[in-house]
Amino acid sequence: MNIWPISGSQYRPIFAIALFFFVTDLGAQETRTKPERTGKQLFEAACAACHGADGRGAPVSTVGFDIPLPDFTDCSFASREAAEDWFAIAHEGGPVRAFDRMMPSFGEALTEDEIRRTVAHAQTFCDDDSWPRGELNLPRPLVTEKAFPEDEAVLTVQAAAEGSGALSPKFIYEKRFGPRNQIELAIPFSFAGRPQGGWIGGVGDLVFAFKRAMVHSLDKGSIFSLGGEAIFPTGNKDKGLGGGRTVFEPFALFGQILPGNGFLQLHGGFELPADRRRTDEAFWRAAVGRSFTQGPYGRMWSPMIEILGARDLEPGARNEWDLVPQVQVSLSKRQHILFNAGVRLPVTDAQPRTAQLMFYVIWDWFDGGLFSGW
Ligand code: HEC
Repeated sequence: MNIWPISGSQYRPIFAIALFFFVTDLGAQETRTKPERTGKQLFEAACAACHGADGRGAPVSTVGFDIPLPDFTDCSFASREAAEDWFAIAHEGGPVRAFDRMMPSFGEALTEDEIRRTVAHAQTFCDDDSWPRGELNLPRPLVTEKAFPEDEAVLTVQAAAEGSGALSPKFIYEKRFGPRNQIELAIPFSFAGRPQGGWIGGVGDLVFAFKRAMVHSLDKGSIFSLGGEAIFPTGNKDKGLGGGRTVFEPFALFGQILPGNGFLQLHGGFELPADRRRTDEAFWRAAVGRSFTQGPYGRMWSPMIEILGARDLEPGARNEWDLVPQVQVSLSKRQHILFNAGVRLPVTDAQPRTAQLMFYVIWDWFDGGLFSGW
């Protein structure tokens, strides 16, 4: 007599189900015995041989090559780098940002998630939160100032789109002090054709500026700074160089990261002539844009538009509005040399003005020499 409730061939599906559970349980055991490695473990396994478990860089005697290793605990260097840039370097290897080939590519050895965790660990070596993170260093607009403190040299050129052919290059030098502060010196030049023929030109009014990042948060994606500048009447006003008066300009700056690599930057303040009989002016500026990368790690393009407003602080004065559509693009592989071109278009004509072509070239000199990083 058959004591089992089912006969011979009917066992097969039961056997199959049992086998299925046995195998999936083995799989589960496999993941139990191989837990996801933390960023710290990955860093120690993949990076520490060269970068040191403490992130300071192993000595030449251990690594056997003499390319200096960066010190990840040095916030002045490490805080400026956006996680995406370090990801690109770890994924593709040093040459993707014109660094040495001794910095290998981990795109095949590690998954993208693992590289992200490793980079996140590398970014914990700088543990001083007073340094604003590089992600908050948004693309520089042509007129609106950035809230992020920078080490930069900028050459801007403004040219009348029609008429006089006046050309106004300006050289700006920016130097960062500590985590939050930056000073700036701007030397404007001006060249214009004279009605009687020939050219006239020279140095205009020198500008000295200071700014300080007051609040910043990578979680919120925002940075807020306060600053001020003084404009000195060094130019010869009779020759059309400079305004012939000392002006103080207190201002506030705000930068916000928007979803999808977008950004918003605001800049507002007052122009207060030292001669108190002159009228004060208020100004406000906004820039919105978005960054796109050409290919996965290539050139970065940031189209943006600025809206510029200004108004004399006296009864009956009118608001003056300009629009500045523009595109910034990175020229060097290191992305430390950037170019921007746009047009400043007067929207209202409270004062007679013409359209101006505007350009700049930035050299972010902290990230590399003018001729390295290409
Ligand atoms: C074989 C040695 C070696 C290993 C392993 C190595 N690196 Fe590097 N790394 C270097 C060298 C050398 C440089 C400096 C290159 C230069 O300055 O041209 C560098 C530079 C870097 C930089 C660029 C820093 C900057 O200046 O902006 C980052 C980021 C980086 N490494 C991350 C990593 C990560 C993350 C790992 C592990 C996944 C790793 N490295 C593993 C040798 C190594």
